[in-house]
Order: sequence, then C-alpha cells, then structure tokens
Amino acid sequence: MHAYSLLAPAKINLHLEIIGDRADGYHELVMIMQSVGLCDRIEVCPNGSPNFRLHCDSVQMPPPEQNLAYKAAQLMSAEFPEAFARLGGADIALEKHIPIAAGLAGGSGNAAAVLVGLNLMWGLGLAQPELQELASRLGSDIPFSVSGGTAIATGRGEKLDAINGPSQLWVVLAKYQSLEVSTPWAYNTYRQKFGHTYPRDTDILKSRAARIHSGPLVEAILHKNSARIGELLYNDLEKIVLPEYPQVAELKTAMQRPGVLGVLMSGSGPTVFALCASREEAARVKTEVREQIRDRDLGLWIAPFSSGGIQVA
Ligand code: C5P
Repeated sequence: MHAYSLLAPAKINLHLEIIGDRADGYHELVMIMQSVGLCDRIEVCPNGSPNFRLHCDSVQMPPPEQNLAYKAAQLMSAEFPEAFARLGGADIALEKHIPIAAGLAGGSGNAAAVLVGLNLMWGLGLAQPELQELASRLGSDIPFSVSGGTAIATGRGEKLDAINGPSQLWVVLAKYQSLEVSTPWAYNTYRQKFGHTYPRDTDILKSRAARIHSGPLVEAILHKNSARIGELLYNDLEKIVLPEYPQVAELKTAMQRPGVLGVLMSGSGPTVFALCASREEAARVKTEVREQIRDRDLGLWIAPFSSGGIQVA
C-alpha cells in the first residue's frame, strides 16, 4: 500500500446568491465556484493500525474530532469497514497554506483530499460521482472541492454543473489573519434580515436557480470576457459581513484599484479577492495594497484560476 500526497486548491465564489429556505434548515443557493491555485498539501500514509491520526502544522486548527479531514476518514471507515479492517487506518498530515475560516473552503478541500486519498490507498476504485455523494454528507462545499475547476452550484451547493472556465485569470487574496467569520452566523443573520423575502413556492425557487445557466455571468465566462466577469461578481453575504466588519469593507475599497477587473468577498468571508488579467497585474496590486495598508495582520497571496480539484502531487 502506498502513501499519497495530495494538493487541495482553495475556492472562491464568483457569484453567491441566497434564494430561499430548505426543509433541512440550510439555504437554497445559486453559486458559481472557481478553484484557485493556493493549495494545502495533504499526506495520507498507511499506519497499519485500526486508527486515523491527524497531524497539522497550524495552531489555529480545531481538535481532530471537529476537523473535517478527520470526519472524512471516519466516514470512509464506516462506509468501507472491510477495507478498513483489512488494510488499516492512516496518518493524515495537513500542511496548511489556505487561511482557516476564510471563506476559501480550505477545510472542505482537506476533507475532499482525504476521501480521494483513502479511495486510492485502499484501492476502492470509487468514481468522482461516488466520492461527491460521500462528500455531500460532510459539507456543502466538499463535492465541489473534489472536482474543482469552474462550476455552477445549486441546492445546498452540492449540485454541480461544470462549465468551461474563463481564460487564465489571477486573483489577489487578502485576509486579516486574526479575523474569522462564522459561516452559520453569516447565513442565520441573512435569514433574520431577509427571510421574509424568500419565495415559498418551490417552482419559483427552481426557476430562480435555473436562471443562472443562461445568465450574464455564465455567458461572460463562456465567452472569456474577463472585464465583464469582473463587473458581474456578486455575493449576497456581503450585505451581512461588510457592515459588521468595517475593516473588511475598507479592505474591499483598498483593493478596487486601476487595472483590477472586480473585487468581491469570497463565501462568508472575510477573505476579499481582486480579479486581475495577469500575474504581473496581481503582483502589482498585492504590492500596492501592502503599501497602503501597513498592518502586519493582513495576509496577501496571489494565485491563478485553476481548472481542477484534488490532484495527486
Ligand atoms: O454545509 P456546511 O457545513 O459547510 O455549512 C456550514 C453552515 O453554513 C451551515 O451550518 C449553515 O448555517 C450554513 N449554510 C446554509 N445553507 C447552505 C450552506 C451552508 O445555511 N446551503
């Protein structure tokens, strides 16, 4: 049995729209997700014991039982008890590069990598749809983390339609390292504020979700119209997070510089990204933002759009 080293890219949302409530307590969403090449590295190494052991190089990580990567391993052992009993558990090492609680699906990517890694290590031969079904039981963003690239996501975020990505774009990602935003808080606050506007009729919800497929942002992506993609970036959760965290709103303003195609908060934040046409532009914007905001807590990264999900390194 081999050890596997996997790369899990971060995701950003080019579009995040909350369209209504679901019977399971979640929200009906319409999103366009995009992988970007800022990656965590996950090692899955057979340990010949009836256990999984999780190691992580970040002090910010929650205890193993609350960690999505660990939960992914437990799900695999419960689903494939024969393979687990015969071949044993694994030491799982997380090398974090994606900031935590950032709206970049870092934890989701780690869980997706564990599903892919154990599938390979145990020789289960699961295909991507099967891995994505398992992933959907662990969290709404995890099916996308398995396949990555550019995709329309509806339902809880787990129903995916891959689309041809735009031409090679770059992002500058910016996050105050000590600032974390709770995703349940952001969604629940949105419901308190806007829940009275949610359509109750399932046909209306379905038609709102279907609209994205022929909408202007998908058209801009398919036509590789980068300027238009920048203009159309949209995230409903900005209405909740920006007023509560003024430094995120100020960061967004600081990133709106000449040459930047568009700026948006990703997911439930607090990461903000600036869309740029080239690596050079992204590097210039990163330098300018660093010069303008002289706060050592501000983390800045540049990354290209990425066309895939979990990769074997
Ligand atoms: O699915 P996941 O565990 O990533 O979701 C985290 C939280 O985000 C949920 O507990 C819920 O509060 C909120 N959420 C939601 N509707 C979705 C996805 C997430 O309300 N479709």
